[in-house]
Amino acid sequence: MSEKRIREEIREYGDPVLKSEHFQKALKQTHHKKTSVGEHTLRVTASSLRLSHALEKIGIRSDQKSIVQGALCHDLGILGRDEKYKNNRECCMQHPKDSVDVAKELYPEMDQKTENIIRHHMWPLGGKRPRSREEVIVSAADKYASVKDVVYGTLHHRKEKEK
Ligand SMILES: [Fe+2]
Ligand SMILES: [Fe+2]
Repeated sequence: MSEKRIREEIREYGDPVLKSEHFQKALKQTHHKKTSVGEHTLRVTASSLRLSHALEKIGIRSDQKSIVQGALCHDLGILGRDEKYKNNRECCMQHPKDSVDVAKELYPEMDQKTENIIRHHMWPLGGKRPRSREEVIVSAADKYASVKDVVYGTLHHRKEKEK
């Protein structure tokens, strides 16, 4: 699967999120100390799609539309975290539910499968464990991206620091 095709899929299924005010705010809110919620979100979405397509090659199919929509929305509820949550524990437990609320605004017809991707992405730090393939894929991609965020940061953040 080419990177061009990944970008096309993100645009095809994720347009309502990418064009939203929520996402513009997400690009400005720091996340995992060295990146933004928006950049983290895009990396989780791209990694989830790469994983989904790799699994497809060995006969394990998953719903790429649900994956894009769920991954793009999974952390949007975390926006304004300092004002919203008392501490990290509360943020960890509550932001998946708040992200579901945002996702339902952006995708009023969102199905249960997509909702569960968002609702269960924090496991095992919080919430119920992922059950569907799509939930497992996005949750795994989120952990992978989070570790990379913390360890390496991003080009965007380094550029900001250089200003
Ligand atoms: Fe999260
Ligand atoms: Fe995340």
